[in-house]
Amino acid sequence: MGLRKILTVSEPSLHKVCKPVEVFDRKLHKLLDDMRETLIDSNGVGLAAPQVGILRRVVLVDTGEGILELVNPTLVETDGEQEGPEGCLSVPGRYGIVTRPYVVRVRAQDRNGNFFEVEDEDLTARCFCHELEHLDGHLFIERAEKMLSNEELQEYIRQMEEEMEEEDEKNTEKKSEKTEEKEKYSSPQSE
Ligand code: NI
Repeated sequence: MGLRKILTVSEPSLHKVCKPVEVFDRKLHKLLDDMRETLIDSNGVGLAAPQVGILRRVVLVDTGEGILELVNPTLVETDGEQEGPEGCLSVPGRYGIVTRPYVVRVRAQDRNGNFFEVEDEDLTARCFCHELEHLDGHLFIERAEKMLSNEELQEYIRQMEEEMEEEDEKNTEKKSEKTEEKEKYSSPQSE
């Protein structure tokens, strides 16, 4: 059991390129277990090892169906585009509008070294991209088109909701679908 301290933007380890994991031993499993506990405790949707000061290529992503462990992950395919708000546990209270692929396919190893591939879309695809960039020492603030304070984020969400409501009025039969989208916008989480 062990909560790890989440480092913030001024820490040098967040800006370094991480090394691949070569040994899939108890030390790695302990890191993954601690990261899982830390991610749950912080209410985030993703966490990368450099955020807890470990310069290894390890990330966790909450896919909505559970927390996925990815060791030595690489992007193998992307498709489409999405623009939306993004936050980071290492940049508390700040959000940015970031354009990401809509669909991504990632190849990685599990905690025992077995290779697998995973494909996801929308907010989870955004999270994969965000976490993988942490492993190369990059933060979303470097690629955000616009940074937002908490108040500005709320205003952005309000505007998105208004736009969706206008669309709803034009197209009432799609209403239930749009309401789902609205719920996603109203609860951005940090990665
Ligand atoms: Ni992050």
